[in-house]
Amino acid sequence: MSDDYDIASPGATELFESLRAFGYDLPTALADIIDNSITARARNVWIDMHWAGPQSRIMIRDDGRGMTEDALRQAMKPGSLSPLADRPKDDLGRFGLGMKTASISQCRCLTVLSRTDRSAAVLRRWDLDYIASTGTGEWRLLKRPDLLSPEDHARLDCHKSGTILFWDRLGALVGSAPADDETAQRHFRERADAVKHHLAMVFHRFLKGRGAVTIHMNGRPIEPWDPFLEDIDFTEPLSAETLIADGERAEIKPFVLPHHSRLTADQHAAAAGPKGWNAHQGFYIYRNRRLLVAGDWLGLGMQKEEHFKLARIRIDLPNSADLLWQIDVKKSRARPPAALRLDLQRIARTTRNRASSIYRHRGKIIQRQLGDREAFLWTHLTKHGKSYYRINRDHPLVRKVLEVAEERAPIRALFSLIEQTIPAPLIVINNAETPDAFGQPFDGAPAELRAAMKAVFDAMVEDGRDRAEAARALLLMEPFSSWPEVVTAFLDEVAREAAKSSR
Ligand SMILES: Nc1ncnc2c1ncn2[C@@H]1O[C@H](COP(=O)(O)OP(=O)(O)O)[C@@H](O)[C@H]1O
Ligand SMILES: [Mg+2]
Repeated sequence: MSDDYDIASPGATELFESLRAFGYDLPTALADIIDNSITARARNVWIDMHWAGPQSRIMIRDDGRGMTEDALRQAMKPGSLSPLADRPKDDLGRFGLGMKTASISQCRCLTVLSRTDRSAAVLRRWDLDYIASTGTGEWRLLKRPDLLSPEDHARLDCHKSGTILFWDRLGALVGSAPADDETAQRHFRERADAVKHHLAMVFHRFLKGRGAVTIHMNGRPIEPWDPFLEDIDFTEPLSAETLIADGERAEIKPFVLPHHSRLTADQHAAAAGPKGWNAHQGFYIYRNRRLLVAGDWLGLGMQKEEHFKLARIRIDLPNSADLLWQIDVKKSRARPPAALRLDLQRIARTTRNRASSIYRHRGKIIQRQLGDREAFLWTHLTKHGKSYYRINRDHPLVRKVLEVAEERAPIRALFSLIEQTIPAPLIVINNAETPDAFGQPFDGAPAELRAAMKAVFDAMVEDGRDRAEAARALLLMEPFSSWPEVVTAFLDEVAREAAKSSR
């Protein structure tokens, strides 16, 4: 007892239950476990997702350095190493939490079995149900070797050193479905697929080349997914840059990927990535070559747009930059330091311009093939030497509005009011005084532009026009003709949908 302080240890049950809610999902949790295997210099990692209803189990085994009993006891503590500690250069860890939080986010019973080349296999287990059952709130880390069956112990026999994590009582992932429940089983398999895609992406730079690691998913090696298609000739690398903030280097390398016409259908589908082409544009942040962020404009004030989707920019960070870039525990977030925002914005803008110029260029070629401009919203009339501006009643959208209206008279009246009261003299004066005061229509309003474009497109399609033809016609319409990159990206979408539905 002390007069100066109370000891305020957290209750094990309460803290564990809160740590479960960190926000991992199965793929990000497994990625965090594999970080440890790679840091432990494993050449192979085997993930086995075994379906058996409520007895389903996930095992993650590696042939890395393994742990002695002391090391394992320490490693099992939440907060096994301070986030402020200096780490070896190639360490993928940071908070001393991953193994515990990632595991118990997916299971209620984590058992770790490990051996080194000098020490025999040792075992430790966090069993959340056991801890709750004691009612003491004590941090009881179980350790009897017979907690695992002889077969489970034998799984390490073939390695000089290595580690296995057993995840039992998988909770939400399997629910309470019996082993022969096909829907639950299918869900389990789909999750395994999602894991495979996620790991292929996160660890792609470890999965090939010298000293590569092989990750076996249910017996099959995972193939790397390279977001930059560096092996494909048509990929255009832009010049690399090093940005330094607070003495930490960030290596930046932008890429503009090839337009789909330069890829086979399979290549194009594969390059899309787990979330699709549009979602995977932007910055890719790697920490020690391990991917944290897979396509994001990092809050630099830029939106994801179809016509920028060929822009992917690599950022390489060392693990000493964790604090500066605000890496989170789940390693799924990073935020650029304020000092680098302007540079990153500049690089993003250049890369986006280059990427959209591919669509603009293609759009211009199609425009040339199609010939004359099609529909203007405004027509200019001269009557008795006087100028009038008239809303084109043949514009697809105008036609549609008139068609669907229950009463046409007010709309006609509105049109003629707009036509008659257009402040033409004022516009002329403004334009003469400040010629640059008028921007390009829809400049800086991409969402409105797309909405207008889609509305005109829909009107044409409802009018019986072929979808591909209608999309092409947009290229000739004011003001969309000034945005060939946006229209061409849209056109590609329409063409791909058509191909998909005809398959
Ligand atoms: N597969 C493994 N092989 C060897 N050591 C491991 C393995 N997994 C975890 N460890 C040890 O456990 C420690 C704690 O891991 P973890 O909770 O993920 O935190 P961090 O990776 O941030 O250090 C690691 O630092 C490492 O020493
Ligand atoms: Mg870790």
